[in-house]
Amino acid sequence: MNRNLFDSYLESMNFLNEVSINYPSAISFASGRPYKDFFNVESAISGIKSYVKANKPEKQSTDEFFNHLGQYNKTKGIINESISRLIYNDEQIAANPEDIIMTDGAQEGMAIIINTLFSSPDDVLLVSDPSYIGFIGYAKIAGIPIHAIHRNNSSTDLDHLENTIQELLKRGKKPRAIYEVPDFHNPTGSYMPLNARKRIIELAEKYDFYIIEDNPYGYFIYDVEKIPTLKALDRYKRVIYLGSFAKTIFPSLRLGYLLVDQKIKSGNKVYNLVDECKKVKSFITVNTSTLLQAMAGSILQQENYSLKSFCRLKVEYCKKNRDAMVNAVKHFFGSDQEWQRPAGGFFMMMDIPFPISDNQILECAEKHSVIFCPMYMFYLDKTKGANQIRLAFSNLTTDEIELGIERLAGFLIKKNAWRNISCLR
Ligand SMILES: Cc1ncc(COP(=O)(O)O)c(C=O)c1O
Repeated sequence: MNRNLFDSYLESMNFLNEVSINYPSAISFASGRPYKDFFNVESAISGIKSYVKANKPEKQSTDEFFNHLGQYNKTKGIINESISRLIYNDEQIAANPEDIIMTDGAQEGMAIIINTLFSSPDDVLLVSDPSYIGFIGYAKIAGIPIHAIHRNNSSTDLDHLENTIQELLKRGKKPRAIYEVPDFHNPTGSYMPLNARKRIIELAEKYDFYIIEDNPYGYFIYDVEKIPTLKALDRYKRVIYLGSFAKTIFPSLRLGYLLVDQKIKSGNKVYNLVDECKKVKSFITVNTSTLLQAMAGSILQQENYSLKSFCRLKVEYCKKNRDAMVNAVKHFFGSDQEWQRPAGGFFMMMDIPFPISDNQILECAEKHSVIFCPMYMFYLDKTKGANQIRLAFSNLTTDEIELGIERLAGFLIKKNAWRNISCLR
């Protein structure tokens, strides 16, 4: 076990939360929260009654079925069949409901799979660097050896991945899994191309490792053609798939799922990996709240097991915000700057001409009323990300985005570091 709770990586979320709390009137590009006006919580709560009506066995009274929902319940969950239909309809993923575990958000799925897969001190977790803090943070808390793989503009650098695997194998290490967010990666916003998706699956088969695919942003696709998920392309059962309802329904539901259809060998015996995950879950959260599953289950039944039209307005809203951000960045920083136009998701990355520090983030919040996320927070390699920031556009209005980018330009000009700002209003 290689755990250090004082690791600075684990402090970053607290730091940003504190900045947001201390400067509540600042425009925050830091948080990748979904926009709350779309939540419709009351209707989701009344969905529990609809769920009871639609799912109560004939022989049971309504009271009895409600009480059944109040009891401890199946570790794997009660709406697995609905999830299987959902991912088949929306992602063309064919899944046996028995291979699905309902989780307390994708975050619990991460904890379960990390605790299930990593047992030997020689097992290594590979992550493309930078990556989502929630996954890496948990792996660090669990004391798992982590190895960073470089990223290029659109995905993990697969040549570096292959070279690293060969190196690790030579040293007697076992690359056990790689963590990937192919659809609108957090924090870079990138969309993994099809050829890279196919190649990483081939590498997983060749070198015998798993791919943990985390897909909370897949519905938020704007103006590009959809590329199949890794799981939909997975011919070899190499991909373990994590889903989340935090962005599609609302985050306080704390509901996600884990699809694990692999077999594993121990001695002469072959086990279903999902059953090992179930064991681990039974000691983490016992079972995911059946009331919350009933809320989501009712939405899925009403929507005929597809969330595409349910999410349409949210997706349009985020697309408008993405456009507002891209246009504002272009306006204030010029098209010659290294700016990116994310094809989906909640985030855009921007290069800035000087290394940013925690103190400058505080200064920007205090004097310019705008908060952003420095990219160094997401990197394992602490020599990287100093000149990059992440801008989230999901939880703001277009007016706030325009004003926020103007304020950001003001901060950068004041630092006298951005000489190319040509068109400040
Ligand atoms: C890549 C990624 N995975 C997972 C999550 C969290 O999912 P959940 O709220 O379902 O735990 C987030 C949230 O920001 C995320 O960006």
